[in-house]
Amino acid sequence: MTTLRVLSREDVRRALPMREAVEAMKRAFAQLSQGQAQVPLRVALPVERHNGVTLFMPGYLAADDRMAVKIVSVFNDNPARGLPLIHALVVVVDAGTGAPTAVMDGTYLTALRTGAASGAATDLLAREDARVAAVFGAGAQGRTQLEAVCAVRPIETAWVYDVDPGRAATYAGEMADRLGIPIRVASTPAEAVRAADVICTATTSTAPVFNDADVRPGTHINAIGAYTPQMQEVPAETVVRAKVVIDHREASLAEAGDLIIPLQQGLITEDHIWAELGEIVAGVKPGRTDPEEITLFKSVGVAVQDVAAAAAVLEAAERLGLGVEVSLE
Ligand SMILES: NC(=O)c1ccc[n+]([C@@H]2O[C@H](COP(=O)([O-])OP(=O)(O)OC[C@H]3O[C@@H](n4cnc5c(N)ncnc54)[C@H](O)[C@@H]3O)[C@@H](O)[C@H]2O)c1
Repeated sequence: MTTLRVLSREDVRRALPMREAVEAMKRAFAQLSQGQAQVPLRVALPVERHNGVTLFMPGYLAADDRMAVKIVSVFNDNPARGLPLIHALVVVVDAGTGAPTAVMDGTYLTALRTGAASGAATDLLAREDARVAAVFGAGAQGRTQLEAVCAVRPIETAWVYDVDPGRAATYAGEMADRLGIPIRVASTPAEAVRAADVICTATTSTAPVFNDADVRPGTHINAIGAYTPQMQEVPAETVVRAKVVIDHREASLAEAGDLIIPLQQGLITEDHIWAELGEIVAGVKPGRTDPEEITLFKSVGVAVQDVAAAAAVLEAAERLGLGVEVSLE
């Protein structure tokens, strides 16, 4: 009998703690960089009549023999109707038989895997003695960014900056309770950046969110927002003086304004991109080699992250008996 396990957002949260998600991302990125993953270009289906787009993102991890597809919709009129801007679902398919085995909430899973990628990058690139984090953007991603950084370094204080101070204040209260550390709301970007050992930018901004002059030597930056060639979160000057690591070379050269804009301005060449994160996981290239260097992880998001996270969630859910099993017959 073909059964499908259905997992809610809460089931996903219970099944995969952040520290385990970080390790799952390292394995996924290593497979991606070693040519052991299939990530066909995502298919975008625009629905202009309803001011929305639905994306279909499939992926296969060969060494893990795991396959899944994420369906994610961004419908711009939803917030005005009191509905979420983004809806996402992940379907896990058995790589041996092709049978669908699970469906799960993809919205929290996306935030979890995006945070976990930054956690992996922070673990491999940040200074061991990093104690202060700064987060730009007090949204869904900003929350899992901080959770992930705290999972890999003993962070003692965090700063948050958002152009909407109310959102920053809510974030500070919620995340201080969740992580048990003081979270301070910065009144300017400079206040947060000057204090930080690790910076995460997780905004919807189209222009750099801080000044390069405020970034101290030795800082590690995770930049996960800007996802089109025109968008930027990180100043070009910072990109120029940083060791730049990316999630996926092809995707970031097509989508990451943070790199494409300085490339177009002739400030860097493609050789400036030091490595894919998976190359560092696999030991093909070293990560940080100098305590004074600035390291930058630029992520645009890759389907292998969803596959790895969903597979890990499903394994834990089967073990823990989470979710509901539905017969398809
Ligand atoms: N790299 C990835 O894999 C990945 C995955 C998911 C989402 N994202 C991207 O991450 C970004 C954040 O997503 P989210 O779901 O958290 O969005 P969100 O709308 O929940 O939060 C974004 C926050 O950024 C704030 N902001 C905008 N401009 C700012 C600025 N200049 N300085 C400080 N704060 C600013 C907004 O006020 C808002 O609070 C989006 O661009 C999204 O597309 C990337």
